[in-house]
Amino acid sequence: MLRVYADGMNEAIRSGPEIPSQVAGLPELSVIVPTFNERDNVTTLFRRLQTALAGVTFEVVFVDDNSPDGTWQVVRNLARQDSRVRCIRRIGRRGLSGACIEGILASSAPSAAVIDADLQHDETQLPKMLALLQAGGVDLVVGSRYIEGGSADSFDKQRAGASALATEVAKRVLRVKIADPMSGFFMISRDRFEELAPQLSTQGFKILLDIVATARGNLRAVEIPYTFGSRLHGESKLDSMVALDFLGLVLAKLTNDAVSLRFLLFAMVGSLGLLVHFVALYTALKAFDLPFPQAQACGAVAAMTSNFILNNFLTYRDQRLKGFAILRGLLLFYLVCSVGLFANVGVAFSVYNHEPIWWLAGAAGALMGVVWNYAMSGLFVWRKR
Ligand code: GDD
Ligand code: MN
Repeated sequence: MLRVYADGMNEAIRSGPEIPSQVAGLPELSVIVPTFNERDNVTTLFRRLQTALAGVTFEVVFVDDNSPDGTWQVVRNLARQDSRVRCIRRIGRRGLSGACIEGILASSAPSAAVIDADLQHDETQLPKMLALLQAGGVDLVVGSRYIEGGSADSFDKQRAGASALATEVAKRVLRVKIADPMSGFFMISRDRFEELAPQLSTQGFKILLDIVATARGNLRAVEIPYTFGSRLHGESKLDSMVALDFLGLVLAKLTNDAVSLRFLLFAMVGSLGLLVHFVALYTALKAFDLPFPQAQACGAVAAMTSNFILNNFLTYRDQRLKGFAILRGLLLFYLVCSVGLFANVGVAFSVYNHEPIWWLAGAAGALMGVVWNYAMSGLFVWRKR
C-alpha cells in the first residue's frame, strides 16, 4: 500500500517536462540578487530587469542579510506589488557567496543568474546569456570584463591591480580557463549548479571562481563581454579582508577541500596565541618573579584574550561580535575556557614537576588550552544564531 503511494508521488514529481514553462507562466529564469545595504538600488534594478527581460518569464530572488538600512523592507514592498519578486531575509549571517547559493537553491527555473544590486552589472546582457544556455552546449555563461569588448574602467588603480593579480593566481594555480573568474555576474544551468552546490563554500566573495574550480574543467563555459559600471547608490562591501577569503578559497581548492579557511585561521591565531603565551609567561616569571603556576595562568589569560580578539576579527569575521556583544563574548570565552585553563595549568604543572623545563611545560599547557579554546569557541561564543 505504502509503495503504491510512493510510486504515485514520484509520478507527480516527474510531470515537469510536458508543461512548457512559458505556457504555464513558470519562470524560465531565476535572477538572484544578493543585497546588503542597497535600499536605494533595488527598485531601480527591478525596473531595469523588467525592461531587459520583457520577453522572458522570470522571477527575482533578493537575498538580504538583514541590512541595517532596511533593504528587505523595500524588497517586501516590491514583492507585494509583483509576485515575481521574492525576498529572503537572512538573520545572523553574512556573506555574498552564501547568499547567492541560498538564493539559487531557493528558486527553481532551469537557468539561474546572479547579478549585483548596485547596477554595476549590465542587465541588458541577460537575454543573450539565457539564449546561450537555452541553445544547449553550455552550462555557464560568464559576464566578463576581461575579454574583447568588456571593461572595468570604473575601477581605481589599486582595485584594478588586485583584480588582475587574483585573476592571474586563479588561472595559474587553479588552472581556471576563463578570463574573468572573479566576475560576480553569470548565469548557470540549474542542474549543474545543484550538482556542485554541496561542495561550494558559503564564506567569501568568489562564488564564480569556486564554481569553476570545484567543477574542475567539467563545466562548459562561455564568456560574453560587458562593461562594469559605476555603483548607483551606497558603497562597496569589498574590504581588504577579501584577499584573505580569496587565499582561503585557493588553498581549499588546491588541497581538495581538506583545509578550510576557518581551520587555517584557527591554526594561525592559535600559533600567535602561543607566542603571546610565551611572552607573558616569560615576563611573569622573570620580570615579576611569579611562581610557575601563577605565571602560567597569566600566560593563558593573555593568550585567551588575544585569541578572542583575533578570532573575532579574522576567523569569525562573518559572525563578528560587535558592541556590547564583544564584552559578553569575551566573558563567555573566558568562562567556557576556564575548564581549559585548569587543564592548561594542571598539565603544565605536572610536566614542570617531572621536568622543570619552563618552555616544555608551558607549551604542553598552552596546547591543552588552545584545543579547548577552539572547540568551545565554535560551540558557544560564535555559534550560528
Ligand atoms: N546578502 C549579502 N550579504 N549581499 C552582499 C554581501 C553580504 O554579505 N556583501 C555584498 N553583498 C551584495 C551587495 O549588496 C551587492 O549587491 C553585491 O553583493 C556586490 O557587492 P559590492 O559591495 O557591490 O561588490 P563590488 O562591486 O565591490 O564587487 C563586485 O564586483 C567584483 C568584481 O570585481 C562583486 O560582484 C564581486 O563579487 C566581484 O568579484
Ligand atoms: Mn558593486
